[in-house]
This record gives sequence, C-alpha cells and structure tokens, in this order.
Amino acid sequence: MRMNISINNDWYFKPSFTPEDVRSSSVAGFEAISLPHTNKVLPLNYFDEKDFQFVSCYKKTLVFDENWRGKDIFINFGAIMTQAKIYYNGLHIKTHQGGYTPIQAKLPDSFAQDKNAIITVEVDSRELDKIPPFGGQIDYLTYGGIYREVELEITDKTHIAAFFPFPKVSDANTKIDFTSRIQSEESTKSSLKVALFDGQNLIAEQEYALSLEKGENAFSASLENLQGITQWDLHQPQLYTVVVSLNEDKIEKRIGFRTMEFKPEGFFLNGKRVQIRGLNRHQSFPYVGYAMPKRAQQKDADIMKYELGLNTVRSSHYPPSKYFLDRCDEIGLLVFDEIPGWQHIGGKAWQDVATENVREMIERDLHHPSIFIWGVRINESADNHDFYTRTNAVAKELDPDRSTGGVRCINDSELLEDVYTINDFVHNNGYITWRGAQTQQDVSKAYERPMTNEELDTYALREQQQVTGLDHKVPYFITEYNGHMYPTKSFDQEERMIEHALRHARVQNAAYGDAYIAGAIGWCFFDYNTHKDFGSGDHICHHGVSDIFRIPKWAAYIYASQQDPQEKVVLQGLTYWTRGERSIGGIAPLTVATNCDSVDFYYGSEKLGSFSPATEEFPHLPHPPVILREIEGEWGMHWDAGEIVGFIDGKEVARQKFSANPTPVNLEVTVDDTELSAGDWDSSRVVIRLLDEHNNPLPFVDEIIELECEGVGEIIGPDSFSLIAGVRAFWVKTQGTAGNIDIKISTRYHQLQQSISFHVT
Ligand code: GAL
Repeated sequence: MRMNISINNDWYFKPSFTPEDVRSSSVAGFEAISLPHTNKVLPLNYFDEKDFQFVSCYKKTLVFDENWRGKDIFINFGAIMTQAKIYYNGLHIKTHQGGYTPIQAKLPDSFAQDKNAIITVEVDSRELDKIPPFGGQIDYLTYGGIYREVELEITDKTHIAAFFPFPKVSDANTKIDFTSRIQSEESTKSSLKVALFDGQNLIAEQEYALSLEKGENAFSASLENLQGITQWDLHQPQLYTVVVSLNEDKIEKRIGFRTMEFKPEGFFLNGKRVQIRGLNRHQSFPYVGYAMPKRAQQKDADIMKYELGLNTVRSSHYPPSKYFLDRCDEIGLLVFDEIPGWQHIGGKAWQDVATENVREMIERDLHHPSIFIWGVRINESADNHDFYTRTNAVAKELDPDRSTGGVRCINDSELLEDVYTINDFVHNNGYITWRGAQTQQDVSKAYERPMTNEELDTYALREQQQVTGLDHKVPYFITEYNGHMYPTKSFDQEERMIEHALRHARVQNAAYGDAYIAGAIGWCFFDYNTHKDFGSGDHICHHGVSDIFRIPKWAAYIYASQQDPQEKVVLQGLTYWTRGERSIGGIAPLTVATNCDSVDFYYGSEKLGSFSPATEEFPHLPHPPVILREIEGEWGMHWDAGEIVGFIDGKEVARQKFSANPTPVNLEVTVDDTELSAGDWDSSRVVIRLLDEHNNPLPFVDEIIELECEGVGEIIGPDSFSLIAGVRAFWVKTQGTAGNIDIKISTRYHQLQQSISFHVT
C-alpha cells in the first residue's frame, strides 16, 4: 500500500523565526495559510528586493491515522526557498539547502504513539552565499517561502524507494531498461512487477525475482520486446504509464518512447531533424513570485506551445515545477532542464550543493520525455574543469542516455558536455557589440561604430567554430540572444517595438540558416522582476516577448507566425496606426508578422497593393514577416482607416483593421479557465484589454480598472490598477471551498463594465 496525500492546507506562517518556535506548539502570532505560499506579497515593481529575504516559520499539525500503523511516513516538499530546517515535535529531522529541488523527510516511527506531529519548518529565504545561485549577483529574484506543494507519502516498510525508467526504441527491441532502489525491512526473497499501460490497456508486464538484503537494495532489469508502441513526438505526444509493484507497494511514472540525438548537423527526434525554436522561461509571477499552483504553471507551457508556436523551452535557470514539466510532456514541448546558478561559482561546499542539485534534478525529472538535455553547468559561468567533470559524471551515472549541455557565454570554453550550448548576444543590428563589459566606457562601445563588411558575417549569430575555437564541428545550439541587448517595454515607442520584433526575427533567421546550429532559444518568454542592478530601475527586466502578465508584445508574433498556418493563422500588423508616433512620422515601413502567403493593404477603401513575405531579408525563416516599404497612394492631410488582409493559396484567411480615430469602446475580458478545483488552492488568469472599434488595444490609454470580487475567491494583487499598454491581467485565487466566484470589472472613466464567473468544484 502506498498513499500520497496532499497537505497544502491548514498551515500556519509567521514572517520571523526564533528557536522557541521549534519547541512551542503555539501558533499565536501566526497566520493561517495554504501552500504554495510566498513569504511576502510584493508590488508589481519598484519594491525593495530585501523585502522577502528573511527567515520565517511554517507550522502544521498532522494527526496520526490508524491506517498508517507500521508504515514509513515521509513528508515531501516540492521546494523551499532557500534553506529549510524541518522539525518533528521539536526534533530536527532534516536540513536542505537549495530552493529549487525536492525535499523528503522521514517522520520518526514514534508518530504512531505521539498521535500528533507538529511539523515546524524554519525557512531561510535570504540569499545565502553558500548556496547556488547566490554568492555573486543574479539577474532575477528568488523570492521566499514554501512555494511549491507538499504531500505525505505513506509506504510499507519494505518499499520501492526509487524507480528510474529508460524507455528505448529500436526496430529490434523496444524496451524499458530500469534501475531502482528498494528499501527492505529484512533479508528476504520477493519480486518486483513492472507493467506498462497505454491508458487503461495493459501493453506488457513482467515479474522479476528479488533477493533483498535488509536496508537499501539496487535492482536493474528490462521490460523487453514491447509491441505496438507509438513514439512521443511534438505533434502526437503519446504517453504511457509504467506501474511498478512490490507486494502491496506501488508507484507509477508517466513516460514516453522516443529517440533523441544531437549531431553536429542538429537535433534529431525519432530520427527527424527538429529545428529548436524556443524561449527561456523564469517561473516567476507578479506579486507572489514563485508561489503559483499547478494550473498557472501548466498554462505557461500552453501559452508557449499554442500561442507562441514554440517547440522548446529552457527552464532558465533552475528546475521548474513538476506540473510545468508534466504539461510539456502532454503537449509536446521540449525542455532544457537546468541546475540553479548564474555566472558565479562558489567554493567546495557550494559546488557540493550544485552537484547534489544535478542529482536531485535528474532523479526527479528523468522520466519526462519532454526533457531533451540536462543543463549541468552554472549558467554563463567560467570554465572549471574539476567541477564540471563532476556534474557531467553525476548526470551520466544517473542518465547515460540523455545529452548534457551547459550554458556558457565565453568563447573557446572547455567542452565537457555532449552539446556546446551558448548564449550568443552578438546581434546589435549592425553595430559592433561588446560582451562582458565591466565599465560604462565598455558599455558605450555597444554603439561605437557600425560593423565592417567583414564583421557583418556575425550580424545575427556567429558560426559555431568562431565560438568553440575547435577545429571540427560539434553538436551546438543557442541558448540565449537579444534580452538585455534591446530591452523593450510593452508600452515602448512604436519603432522600438518593431525593432525588438525584428531582432528576434533576424536571430531566428540566422539560426535556421546555419546547418550546424541546431536552433535557438531566445531571451525571453516574459518580463520578470529582478534585482536593482538589472532591469529598468523598476525591478523589472523588460526582456520578454510578452509582458510580465504573459500578454504578447509584437516580438511574440514573430514566433507565433513561424507555426504552420494549419495550426494557427497569424496576421498582426506591428503598428499603432498613427501618423505622429514615429520619428518624422508616418507608418511606413509597415511590418506584418504573419504566416500568410501574401497580404493586401487598404488605406481607407482603396487597395494600395498586395505584398509578399520579406524572403530576401529573411531567407531562412519558415514565415518571414511582410514588410510594406513603399506604400503608395494619396495621404494628404486626411488620415483614414487601414486594413490588412491575409491570403493563403489565394483564399482570404485573416483580416486586421486599424482605426483612424481610435476610442475605447470595448472592454474585452478573457479568462484562461472558468472551471476551477476546490481543495488545494487553484488559480486562473484574467486578461483585460481596452479596445477600439476594430478590437485593437489603445497603447497609451491610462484608464483605471476596478475589480469587485465576491464568493469563494480573491484577487491576487491589487483590486484596482491602471492599464499598461492598454492591457493588463490579474490572477484569481480560490480559497479551497466549492462555490462560485463572481468578479465585476469596470473602467473608472469610460462607462464600460464586464462580469465573469468561476465555478469551483
Ligand atoms: C544573460 C543571462 C540571463 C539574462 C540575460 C538578459 O546573460 O543568462 O539570465 O540576464 O542575459 O539578456
């Protein structure tokens, strides 16, 4: 028998800690909370980054259940930022360092007599120099608290402590090799049963005789000759469940069968080259930092796959929520999973924690078919032969099949991994750039002079051997570009917004055009809160192709439009459609992010021409934007409406109209999910847009939105705020109970109002 019981509710929290908290059973001065939990709710921007860096205390009472008698009882934390000390009725049972990997603590057998267990967790959320990613400066915030889910796991004394499946596809023998650790109460003979299911259908099963010693036993074997297996791929991400049983004990892992191979010529999934097209994702959210539940984690994966048309995400710079990974498995989104760290490498003890992070990451995540590479270096750190020999060795020992990479930004770096992965920030639209600038003078060199013809070879990306310094080609891809090279706010001036989008197009074009670059993952999916030494002084890095609420900027449409129009037709004019916004004025050149074959352009009712994608400028992109350079026609003093119409195979498939005189007439409210779950707290995003007569946002409208929430939920963050670039979002949070949540959304000045309802069941 094995039970996994989530225990996310009825916790108590105090934003301070004293040793007395360990001994005392009192929760006087504590606040009742549910997990995931942030130790500090922050404003959207301009806050003090020290606000969440403190030691806090969490408490929960567990009551013994007679069904648990004679069992092993574990408490499993998804993650705690940054260092956690866990106590059982005042007795210290575990210390864990590192804020991104799971923590398991075994409760003492005396729980059966004690009946009540007070679990106290001392949570140190300071940036402790001894623990990765700390010790230097980092361009993101790590927040604080018990920010992931927690469960009790109850097992027989003799149980499967770990099971690691390695599904292998081949013509001769498709099979699952596996390794496992079995905890036995005594020396005995037993057997392990491994069964593979496709949904409810049993595909194969086998029983393996075991000769167990008292204590921990290692056991490896294979489930061979599997028939009728469908491979996991990006379009049909077929998943199977492997069920492992030992006597009454049983665990399940969801897996997928696929081959993955890196060659100098690219990345091959099931033997077919897949061009990596992705973005980096932090796991942060406005106000609550990392503390968001399953649905919000999963939604990010959905946005990346379905709205941005990506096939890859890098979990910069740490292992993400298991729910995010589950969703990537389900929808077919490749993941670069990476250990925590940023540029700085600490001393021996620090490196021990980082090496342990490799183990924890791989042991937790190994079964996910979506993970195509392990990041086993500290992002953008210097070479360190001994340290990275160790991290690579741990990865290979645990997972001999999967490739390792490690993100660097230095040239001629020692390649200890299978794949050379590099942040290539060379693109500066024709200006000579710097890398690793230390002083303001260095920084000013970013625009020192235009590139020479020779240097223009490295206009968007360098060729791999310029970077590796090797005399031969290796598996190679780009893990970051753009980002700080061109921060762009969602409310920036039109020309900057367009250039931001075009930079993403240029680098992707270069990646597509180089057979020895497996693809490119841009910086980054959405804007994120950061330390004061980064970002725009507002504690935000405006580096995203979307804003902090995951609402797309124009650069997002460059990605979205690379998808096959069969999946989704994209037609987005990158224009505010106004004569005076740009320097000098006018709207040309007019860039349209689209996967249409051609675009007709109308000024007023007059058709001014048909235009094709800019294949000369972007010869390698699947779908170059259409750039209308010369828009002929009568402009005069009169300013008229505009319209772009997209065609595929001669058929109209999309249309966007622009108003000559936009006014806010439509308060559009879209909800990610209206059906939410009771029990553990759940959440959905609500996106608000104030739109003109043609449903385009009004980029500079400063309307105030007011929210009124009734029922079994609450708003995360403030309940009144101004729009940003004509849009904004918030997340609603359930309170655990079933019922309805009704939210009224109104504008303060324009008489517009909408209502939305959620059902919590
Ligand atoms: C990289 C770094 C990222 C982010 C990015 C901004 O150097 O790896 O975390 O800071 O720059 O462009």
